Amino acid sequence: MEMLSVRNLGKIYKGMVSYEALSNIDLSIQRGEFVGIMGPSGSGKTTLLNMISTIDKPTTGEIRIDGKDPYALSQDQLALFRRRELGFVFQSFNLLNTLTVKENIVLPLTLDGAGLADMNEKVAVLSEKLGIAPILDKRTYEISGGQAQRTAIARALIHEPKLLLADEPTGNLDSKSAREVMEILEQRNREDQVTMLLVTHDAVAASYCSRVIFIKDGQLYNEIYCGENRTAFYQKIINVLSLLGGNGHEFPPVRV
Ligand SMILES: Nc1ncnc2c1ncn2[C@@H]1O[C@H](COP(=O)(O)OP(=O)(O)OP(=O)(O)O)[C@@H](O)[C@H]1O
Ligand SMILES: [Mg+2]
Repeated sequence: MEMLSVRNLGKIYKGMVSYEALSNIDLSIQRGEFVGIMGPSGSGKTTLLNMISTIDKPTTGEIRIDGKDPYALSQDQLALFRRRELGFVFQSFNLLNTLTVKENIVLPLTLDGAGLADMNEKVAVLSEKLGIAPILDKRTYEISGGQAQRTAIARALIHEPKLLLADEPTGNLDSKSAREVMEILEQRNREDQVTMLLVTHDAVAASYCSRVIFIKDGQLYNEIYCGENRTAFYQKIINVLSLLGGNGHEFPPVRV
């Protein structure tokens, strides 16, 4: 079952000088997949993610999320679609720092008028899975970066979205917290079959995905699948990155 389908997608940023940031992107993601997008800086990764997350409109081509064209929806329908069917995770966490961890997590549910007992039950289950149950009553300035990102992931998952979209979710974290965050995403993908699409610069983070798609100069370049062995997958990712023009020797053969 196809969760995301992207056909012949293109994006031209109009301005003093027009710039073609993406062209001819075809992409299909099945329900339950965990897909990473990698590519050099400026290759169009965020542009692609913004079009899939309906933050920005494509110039050409089409997008279907679970069979629906988000760009055919009215403004109101689109706002609901985003809130109910998509989950977002950002590099900078985007938590509201006047609220507690728990209040941040339930925010999407309160917008939908969910009942208190239902919300409490959902938070209890999810916070346990994400290892943030002990910090639910803390304010966001009292928690670590890794805890903040796990809170943001809980907020993005609380309404059981069809598709979780993440742009550099480990970009602001040290390597240990980054691994914890990736392990949590991988677990939610494996156990709850949440379909996930994540942009990352980090080969270790990408190695938690089941497939990595590489883009270069706004076009698809290559894709590789994880298979059985994550250490071998990490090495394959490094190899493609070095072909892409990154410096392979910058990535030590660490154990992943
Ligand atoms: N709003 C915009 N207007 C004009 N050009 C833009 C705009 N946003 C991005 N671009 C250009 O489009 C290209 C792709 O940008 P994008 O942000 O998608 O790259 P990226 O792969 O996410 O890079 P990074 O790894 O640095 O985050 C870049 O050359 C960028 O300068
Ligand atoms: Mg980017």
